[in-house]
Amino acid sequence: MNVKELVGKMTLEEKASLCAGGGWWQTKPIDRLGIPSVYMTDGPHGLRKQEGAGDHLGLNASVPATCFPTAAGLASSFDRSLIARQASALAVEAQAHDVSILLGPGTNIKRSPLCGRNFEYFSEDPVLAGEMAASYIKSLQEGGVGCSLKHFAANNQESHRMGGDSIVDERTLREIYLRPFEIAVTKGKPQTVMCSYNRINGVFSCENEWLLTKVLRDEWGFDGYVVTDWGAMDIRVDALKAGCELEMPSSDMTTCGQIADAVKNGELSEAILDRAVTRMLNILYRWIETNKREVKLDLAEHHKLAREIAAQTMVLAKNSGVLPLDAKKSTAIIGAYGKKIMFQGGGSSHINNPYEDSVVDEWSKLGGEVVYAEGVRADGTTDDALINEAVEAAKKSQNVLLVVGSPMETEGADRKEMTLPEGVVKLVDAVASVRPDCAVVLTCGAPVELPFIDQIGALLVAYLGGQAAAGAIVDLVSGAKNPCAKFAETWPVDFRHNPSHPNYALKDVEYREGVFVGYRHYDMHGINPRFRFGYGLSYTTFEYGEPTISASEITEGDPLTVSVDVKNTGGVAGAEIVQLYVGQDVCTNVPRPVKELKDFAKVWLEPGETKTVKFELDSRAFAYWDDFAKAWVVDSGSFTVSVAPSSCPYCQKKMSVTVNSTSKKPRPLTLYSTIPELMAFPGGAELIGKMMQNAPTLSALNNDGEDMLGMDMKAMMEGIPLKTMLMFAGGAISEEQFVGILAQLNAAAGVA
Ligand code: GLC
Repeated sequence: MNVKELVGKMTLEEKASLCAGGGWWQTKPIDRLGIPSVYMTDGPHGLRKQEGAGDHLGLNASVPATCFPTAAGLASSFDRSLIARQASALAVEAQAHDVSILLGPGTNIKRSPLCGRNFEYFSEDPVLAGEMAASYIKSLQEGGVGCSLKHFAANNQESHRMGGDSIVDERTLREIYLRPFEIAVTKGKPQTVMCSYNRINGVFSCENEWLLTKVLRDEWGFDGYVVTDWGAMDIRVDALKAGCELEMPSSDMTTCGQIADAVKNGELSEAILDRAVTRMLNILYRWIETNKREVKLDLAEHHKLAREIAAQTMVLAKNSGVLPLDAKKSTAIIGAYGKKIMFQGGGSSHINNPYEDSVVDEWSKLGGEVVYAEGVRADGTTDDALINEAVEAAKKSQNVLLVVGSPMETEGADRKEMTLPEGVVKLVDAVASVRPDCAVVLTCGAPVELPFIDQIGALLVAYLGGQAAAGAIVDLVSGAKNPCAKFAETWPVDFRHNPSHPNYALKDVEYREGVFVGYRHYDMHGINPRFRFGYGLSYTTFEYGEPTISASEITEGDPLTVSVDVKNTGGVAGAEIVQLYVGQDVCTNVPRPVKELKDFAKVWLEPGETKTVKFELDSRAFAYWDDFAKAWVVDSGSFTVSVAPSSCPYCQKKMSVTVNSTSKKPRPLTLYSTIPELMAFPGGAELIGKMMQNAPTLSALNNDGEDMLGMDMKAMMEGIPLKTMLMFAGGAISEEQFVGILAQLNAAAGVA
């Protein structure tokens, strides 16, 4: 199809009609020209196709579809190939129901554990979040189904999401909140991007030209189209100019009329409208029409796949030798979730799943006697009778397994705190008091406070593991499978320790913690959280050899290879997630995190087996966003590169590399520059040297570290602006002459 010719045949009204939905889930067709409608729907961990009434909150029924593990658990797998397998299966289910675009993945950063939608998001770390999103996108689109990467951007809370303002400095945006989208767009190449409801620094995402055109298209090369979140449109004509092509759901032609009128009255150039229509038709003909394919949908097979995936998303957070349990022995299974587990969250991602496992049923298949006790109801309430029954069951059984969790977490609402329901805590305390060897399985979409952690024998965090979560839990608790997931987010002891607190859930919310999100904060402030980012246990043990690095000094942009041998030193096969971190040793221009994740790899090892894991580092691994230069820059200096099993500061295997920067341009010298800045500036040292010769007072002040008048003159001198230094130059040079020399130095260094 020649899109340019097709656009040339369209009337103004037809063009405008394409810019808004033709219903809750589809674009408008243009029958006169044979332009079909495009059907899109949620996502992201299952197909939510509504054949009856439509809604964006999971209220009305949808077709039966596999509910796979949610993003919080998927990210804990640190496994690009695993999420790719899930996305591939999602593509089959979308194709089977003629869905051309799946609305996901969501890759917003987990700024606070209180966000109601954290179950749908990957991580607090931008590299992990971006890499998981990119892998999902590539695989879904290889299956012939487009994606809609969401919610672009800085949509990190549910409170006030439709009218609130995320107030974030550009460096924090670039390094943290935009970074996962940058990775996902440049590596995954999504067909569409969904802009978020909120404002960013006062401008709604849907009409934010800096975001949708300068960053997303001009810098990252995105060439698809932008669709609003459902109901996120603000001023239609402004949004079209900014680079937001499609408003969803239907606006009943209201805003399409505004577009046509704006062209007629000259407020909007038709070229902008043509640009939008071309972008949408490109996706339609370049991609959607050529990717429809016949598929064989087997929901039973997908249920098995969901179980296999879920087992690699659940984190063994504590194990004092209690797990795995011997399934041949008698087992008390305690908690309402033992019969009907919480496996997904609420809102637009809520799936109508055809299958659902239960822990009691799956465990009973293993042959041992099972004693079930409700202990705590699904709503988190309990009473003495339930508690006493649970304690009795625990006393008379050889194994004790509690299956509990936080109540439904959902889109549209944030949690006010991280506490588990009172009934859950009461039950665990009561059972642990008679059976400190009890094992707890916890379902949750995000971290919770664990007051009982020291009283129990083991903790398996299942997150919201999809319809086969219970089966996966049984596979892990019985030892049929070995846990290998690690936390993709920090678990604070108390939610007030989280760096976003108290600047959270406000309508105009300031991201005052800057880049110090998640482990970046706990590292910097020496705070020990409950569980660290990247932490997780296995039934076996692993040993890291001494890592090697291909160079100890590089020029920015040179390739750098890091490798490390990992050995399975235990008795069972397992998988180890190796993490690679980089940290700048001395940061004089901006405060930088102690270390930041730059890559990760999961390696499967038989007992006694050793494999070598290799990482390639590019120059971006050392860079930060320089708000002055408006660019990514690398400071010259030494960096610590480390490999480790988690972000724990005490288990980093460190190497050092010196980087000689080519990107960092010195700031232009002024009278308010300091002596160290002048000394570091090309030609500056010579200038200072000459001035010292002609100004005895000045050279006296520069005694290296000697105290004079009880002051550390050197330290004091480092903070003195050049303008003040001239005072000590004894008239050897006038301020006007000095300014002229600085201008010459700036010109020679090529800085304004
Ligand atoms: C919802 C969600 C978005 C979803 C869309 C359609 O409000 O924010 O993630 O894809 O509307 O249901």
